[in-house]
Amino acid sequence: MNTASRIALVTGATRGIGLETVRQLAEAGVHTLLAGRNRERAVEAALKLQAQGLPVEAIALDVTDAASIAAAEADVERRHGRLDILVNNAGIAIDEADKGVSGQSLETWRTTFDTNVFGLVAVTQAFLPLLHKSASARIVNVSSALGSIALHADPASFIYDMKIPAYNVSKSAVNAWTVQLAYELRDSAIKVNTIHPGYVKTDMNHVDGEQRGELEVPDGARTSVRLALIDDDGPSGGFYYLDEVLPW
Ligand SMILES: NC(=O)c1ccc[n+]([C@@H]2O[C@H](COP(=O)([O-])OP(=O)(O)OC[C@H]3O[C@@H](n4cnc5c(N)ncnc54)[C@H](OP(=O)(O)O)[C@@H]3O)[C@@H](O)[C@H]2O)c1
Repeated sequence: MNTASRIALVTGATRGIGLETVRQLAEAGVHTLLAGRNRERAVEAALKLQAQGLPVEAIALDVTDAASIAAAEADVERRHGRLDILVNNAGIAIDEADKGVSGQSLETWRTTFDTNVFGLVAVTQAFLPLLHKSASARIVNVSSALGSIALHADPASFIYDMKIPAYNVSKSAVNAWTVQLAYELRDSAIKVNTIHPGYVKTDMNHVDGEQRGELEVPDGARTSVRLALIDDDGPSGGFYYLDEVLPW
């Protein structure tokens, strides 16, 4: 993939995997928009990367706020006129461990879906016209292995006991949406895939003052970056962890 003059936007990029995805895309030469729901923190994070000579710009974008999404889309259209790469990375995990599968409140379900599913769909809908203006566009949906229904149903799988229902089902919905969208885009220049970043040491896995996880953040961003930079003969409508195809 020739990354020169490509324009990317990464949501939820003020910290964790999103921030690292911005760094790696920018290091690959992609002009990358670091999107955060808090404008000041997005600017602060972008300035640090700019100081390292990386082509990064801040943009305010709260994926649960229709006005914020519309303003961000208008801003990208004004600044660049198109978008080549959209990484839907923003996500939350707010299930309460002591409430089990059936005991999570509907508020937990709704809040989780507002960010992880409806926010992702809304951002995608808003930016699709700009992605269609690209000669070769990519959408990466940051899901999770925890969204795999096949793995959850398999007592032998490594996630069998990880029943965090609102989060897991929200990621299953992201996977299902990815397949639906890939169908609509099958004859276009836009490829859309869904990914598992790995079990990564970020704030999302902060338990009892400790960041749990198997991967350091730089490795956790690799799958998003790989799928953001696939060539025109690359896949669409797939579910990946690095090069590995994951079961739905
Ligand atoms: N870490 C893992 O092991 C792991 C595993 C599988 C999948 N994932 C997925 O990877 C993605 C990144 O997770 P992470 O581990 O980097 O988590 P994180 O460190 O908690 O970062 C989450 C990011 O999402 C942003 N965000 C939350 N709500 C938002 C909203 N309404 N609008 C815009 N941004 C919002 C946060 O912004 P603020 O800074 O403003 O709060 C933050 O930048 C998520 O989709 C997560 O589900 C992570």
